[in-house]
Amino acid sequence: MAKIIAVTNQKGGVGKTTTAINLAAALAISGRTVLLVDCDPQGNATSGVGMKGQRAAGGTIYEALTQAADDADRFTLPTMIDRLSLIPATRDLSGAEIELISVSERERRLERLLEPQRDRFDYIIIDSPPSLGLLTLNALVAADRVLIPLHCEYFALEGLADLVSTMRRVRAALNPGLDIEGVLLTMNDERTNLGQQVSRDVREFFKDKVYRTVIPRNVRLAEAPSHGLPAVTYDPKSRGADAYFAFANEVLERNQLAPAVS
Ligand SMILES: Nc1ncnc2c1ncn2[C@@H]1O[C@H](COP(=O)(O)OP(=O)(O)OP(=O)(O)O)[C@@H](O)[C@H]1O
Ligand SMILES: [Mg+2]
Repeated sequence: MAKIIAVTNQKGGVGKTTTAINLAAALAISGRTVLLVDCDPQGNATSGVGMKGQRAAGGTIYEALTQAADDADRFTLPTMIDRLSLIPATRDLSGAEIELISVSERERRLERLLEPQRDRFDYIIIDSPPSLGLLTLNALVAADRVLIPLHCEYFALEGLADLVSTMRRVRAALNPGLDIEGVLLTMNDERTNLGQQVSRDVREFFKDKVYRTVIPRNVRLAEAPSHGLPAVTYDPKSRGADAYFAFANEVLERNQLAPAVS
């Protein structure tokens, strides 16, 4: 039974997509079957696995959500990486936020799509946009757990209160089991002490939810998307890839200790 993880932070450019694609790819490389769901109109997760502009037989996540589809197979494509599949996104998706406003069960569209896929995958990873709008809400309702990437900088924690309170509302009304999977510190500049200070503050706030692995700022992680590959396959020996492999192992380790999600 798949565990569904939404990679979410309404702050832009904190490493959500980099984390979603490298975690998804690293889990696939380690033998798990993984579905990556691009839920951001920017489509960066789609281009990050080399599938920019591609559509499955039924279309993209846009058609899946607006048609209230429950047959995700029609929207799923294989990727170049064994065991990694993708539900792609294009710019069209930006229309969904508005088009869904007036329809019933609009927050449950993604849940409806992904729930029947649980027996086909080990992990379903959702990349979400930098907002707390309807697309992110759909991701939080569909997910078992939220993975929060935090950019190692001052104000990293700023705005997180909004995410935490949104999660609380989702838990009360729509998805009682929702919880934090973990908090990942990203883009750490090892030449400064700032990362250590931020890390201390974040660990004080989120305690053992914070992963031991800290993702360094590494140029390979920034270059890889332009080659249409996650860094873990583009340059598996780079420091960035190495950190994402260590992170994926930590995710697997935690999930062996944690009770099974029903
Ligand atoms: N550890 C890192 N080292 C260097 N560059 C990075 C690292 N992580 C991400 N980047 C780069 O920083 C930019 C922002 O990262 P990313 O797209 O993953 O963030 P995001 O949170 O998904 O952004 P958005 O909110 O726009 O969706 C990208 O250009 C990415 O390639
Ligand atoms: Mg992104």
